[in-house]
Amino acid sequence: MNSFEENFNILVKFPITDHPFILKESELESISQYESLIKKLNLEKPFANCKTITITSERHGQGKSTVLFNLAKRCAENGMKVLIINGDIPGTSIENFIKIKNSPGLGEWFNSRVPLNKLIQNTSILNLYMLPGGNIDFKFLFNSHDFHSLLEMCRLDYDLIAVDSPPIEFSESAEIISLEVDMTLIIADYEDYTRNSIRCKKLINQIKDKFVGVILNKVYNSFKSVWEICGKPN
Ligand SMILES: Nc1ncnc2c1ncn2[C@@H]1O[C@H](COP(=O)(O)OP(=O)(O)OP(=O)(O)O)[C@@H](O)[C@H]1O
Ligand SMILES: [Mg+2]
Repeated sequence: MNSFEENFNILVKFPITDHPFILKESELESISQYESLIKKLNLEKPFANCKTITITSERHGQGKSTVLFNLAKRCAENGMKVLIINGDIPGTSIENFIKIKNSPGLGEWFNSRVPLNKLIQNTSILNLYMLPGGNIDFKFLFNSHDFHSLLEMCRLDYDLIAVDSPPIEFSESAEIISLEVDMTLIIADYEDYTRNSIRCKKLINQIKDKFVGVILNKVYNSFKSVWEICGKPN
């Protein structure tokens, strides 16, 4: 165990895989790890009050969108009514993956308050809805007051709201999202997670008890030794 693992609460380790976005039940090992993560986050059943969650990272490409989508989908399959918000505009990874239109979306809500019922789309997955990114300048920064109001409105209709975040190094919107949601997770690529800690530590100090733990992703090894590294899911 190195200092990163000692300092942070590692919630789960996901192995590197050929099919990281789980649309089919083909990746059973990862699915049981998602179930274990859901238990640790206490997201097993719908709550009296809607919960809001985000996954952020120090740098690009660590697996935020992939893991957020898989987690949201699993919760929807467990019977929760789940909304994914693309807060990483103008990125389009989840929209492209589930083949929904990227626009209009959050950009149109921020710029001209287009009503949410004209922006939120059904997905092919039961109980899973998405507010896509929409059209917006990539330099756009979230205004915390507006984002707070948006979450408050959405809380009325959903059990869980999962916000896809930009990386901390790329946009201050990551901090604003983390400050406004109830739970923030940090994801880091297993191969170089020791390089993923300076801004993460700063963010954790800012958001305090909203930080719930770290996901290590893309654990690279042979299948057998993945279990040696991760431990079998319970
Ligand atoms: N466990 C995994 N094994 C293999 N590839 C993975 C895994 N998780 C994610 N990937 C791949 O890594 C790439 C980056 O993933 P993803 O887009 O989810 O990261 P991100 O943190 O959202 O990136 P960005 O900061 O650009 O939004 C994608 O090609 C995705 O398919
Ligand atoms: Mg992403």
